[in-house]
Amino acid sequence: RSAVRMAMERTYIMIKPDGVQRGLVGEIIKRFEQRGYKLGALKLYQANEDLLRKHYGDLQEKPFFPGLLKYMTSGPVTCMVWEGENVVRMGRQMLGETNPQASAPGTIRGDFSIVVGRNICHGSDSVASAEKEIKLWFDDNEVLAWKDHSHAWVY
Ligand code: PPS
Repeated sequence: RSAVRMAMERTYIMIKPDGVQRGLVGEIIKRFEQRGYKLGALKLYQANEDLLRKHYGDLQEKPFFPGLLKYMTSGPVTCMVWEGENVVRMGRQMLGETNPQASAPGTIRGDFSIVVGRNICHGSDSVASAEKEIKLWFDDNEVLAWKDHSHAWVY
């Protein structure tokens, strides 16, 4: 049991405004639940530019950045923490490639999107950025710890 706990990690998954507006929140949550991952935090949230500049800090010089800000503030996002073994990498795999047209069918982007500027969802790209993003998008008291809610059938 302690070995299982040692392997636990968390990731930050965000359903972008197009995913929320298209009614894909339930579908995306369903996929993570079905896979066996555990929901650690969840909220619908209207992001502002300040927060997005912090979240996408390394992209400020990119030509698409103003459009990205406009897209990401165009409506509420759904912020989530998912927990479980290797969830950062597996979460990215479930989302698909950043460019939906490079995403395999069966992935979220591969099933529901066509262009990178409307790619439905975000997932942390490393354990370190996951921890940073969870802190950025959630207050401590909004995030539950897996150890407090252990279920033997959730890895
Ligand atoms: S880059 O250029 O390699 O740093 O960008 P990349 O790692 O592929 O993507 C970083 C995030 O920027 C989003 N992105 C875009 N948004 C809008 N329009 C365009 N053209 C665009 N290109 C990249 C991309 O979806 C990544 O955001 P997340 O939220 O991680 O998906």
